Amino acid sequence: MFSYDGMRQHVLADDEFEVLQQLVLDSSGIVLAESSRRSLLDYLSMRMYQLHLGCFQAYSERLLEDSTELLRLINAATQSYTTFCHDRHHFRFFTNTLLPELAKKPEQELRFWSVGCSTGEEAYSLAMVAQEVLPNIDEWDIAVTATDHDPEALSTAMKGIYPLSQVRHLPARHLLRWFRSLRIGNEEYVQISPALQQVVAFRRLNLLSDWTLPEPQDVIFCRDTLIYFDMPKRAYLIDRLADSLEPGGYLFVGESDRVDIYSDRFEALGNAIFRRCD
Ligand SMILES: C[S@@+](CC[C@H](N)C(=O)[O-])C[C@H]1O[C@@H](n2cnc3c(N)ncnc32)[C@H](O)[C@@H]1O
Repeated sequence: MFSYDGMRQHVLADDEFEVLQQLVLDSSGIVLAESSRRSLLDYLSMRMYQLHLGCFQAYSERLLEDSTELLRLINAATQSYTTFCHDRHHFRFFTNTLLPELAKKPEQELRFWSVGCSTGEEAYSLAMVAQEVLPNIDEWDIAVTATDHDPEALSTAMKGIYPLSQVRHLPARHLLRWFRSLRIGNEEYVQISPALQQVVAFRRLNLLSDWTLPEPQDVIFCRDTLIYFDMPKRAYLIDRLADSLEPGGYLFVGESDRVDIYSDRFEALGNAIFRRCD
């Protein structure tokens, strides 16, 4: 049984993890992976201490009656899901299909938005791939806007320092060109190069506030972020995202996100990729 007593942590038992998996699945459609179990244990210890809850049973009852608490848990559990070039299908389409098409734009100006950017990996990936793929890159004006409501995530994003383990899956040419090695204590890290950092602008933005972007975007990545909202808010946000795109602009969402049931302003291209069609 999981409990918090003083500074002692115990394991999160199978049945307790299953309770959390079910609660998160029912409310958001997200399936908590086994790999999130360890980080959830740390989160639960901290949260139960803050809430003065002595056992898992009390915490799970709190989750049932307090939707904000459940959202916090989902937030904590999904934070770790971001990584560089996160979704294979999305980055393959972005690299091989979309960028070559956008490269035909006569004004040589591109605007990308990473919505719910978390710790910045997605935004840096968009900037990195665009710089690699577009011909005559010096002639282009590329700007990536990256927003999130979480100040801690944004602070990590702006520093652009990540454990080496987080970039090991990237091709060597990306690593050599866009990262420099760092050692902090005994740990190995990488830091985003200044050339890449200057393309990405991080901004704090709560999607539920009254926001506008200064310019229409060519591409919006809003992956694994709509799941935080109930259906009316999702419908509202998808409409606002359509407003923020150039006509014919592209929207990438999470695998379990539905866009078609909320809006007829997008044409579905498959693999959770949509094109504004109004
Ligand atoms: C799982 S992360 C998405 C990471 C990234 N988009 C990716 O797919 O790699 C979801 C992000 O949405 C952010 N978020 C949740 N609610 C938000 C809100 N109301 N306004 C802005 N960001 C929000 C969270 O802080 C979190 O960083």
